[in-house]
Amino acid sequence: MRRKLVAANWKMHGSRDANRALLAAVAASLPGSCDVVVFPPFPYLAELIAAHAGIGFGGQDVSAHAAGAYTGEVAASMLRDIGCGYVLVGHSERRQYHHEDDALICAKLERALEQGITPILCVGETLDQRRQGVTEAIITAQLHAPLQALGERIARIAIAYEPVWAIGTGHTASAAQAQAAHAFIRSQLAARDAKLSRMIRVLYGGSVKAANASDLFAQPDIDGGLVGGASLVAEEFLAICAAAR
Ligand code: PGA
Repeated sequence: MRRKLVAANWKMHGSRDANRALLAAVAASLPGSCDVVVFPPFPYLAELIAAHAGIGFGGQDVSAHAAGAYTGEVAASMLRDIGCGYVLVGHSERRQYHHEDDALICAKLERALEQGITPILCVGETLDQRRQGVTEAIITAQLHAPLQALGERIARIAIAYEPVWAIGTGHTASAAQAQAAHAFIRSQLAARDAKLSRMIRVLYGGSVKAANASDLFAQPDIDGGLVGGASLVAEEFLAICAAAR
């Protein structure tokens, strides 16, 4: 049985005071029935980790390089150093605005795994791609390079299915649409290794909120959520966590 994981992707939101207050409110009432990991903006990570021992933390991004003259980059070893257990890799906003391709994404996965950090690999189709009926082909393509590059180490990652048309739009995939994509992802993993496909957690992301979390999390192949906007409101995020059992 896979324990559910609910991840809060705060993106580039908040301030030192606001983020301290948000996390304090969340930490005070976490249900304990699922794993929770928070992805604050980099400047606030170390301070929040020090203040909240019981919660998982992660970086929203990581360098493809291990160390060196890469101005502005953050190394996986640094994330580990301050206590991060997770990192987001291949988020659609990074693919879109920072032109991240498969080779870069694979390098980031490698750097995270070298440091014992669990990467959450994000995949998902755009609205045009869904309309063209190529959702499965896109997911297959996005999984192909990581499956090739990581081999058996793929067992150490988590996956987030995030249809781009559902991110930040309020248009959540229906539970049936999400389940179909998750089952497809699991079939791709099963083609590699049946045991592996049963182990890996596949999260759904894209306008998850308290009102739809229970339906989504009740699907057999949905192992939790990657939550953006709704993770910025403590009550809403806590209700989503409570739905993950
Ligand atoms: P959203 O973002 O919940 O605001 O749609 C999800 C994500 O981008 O991870």
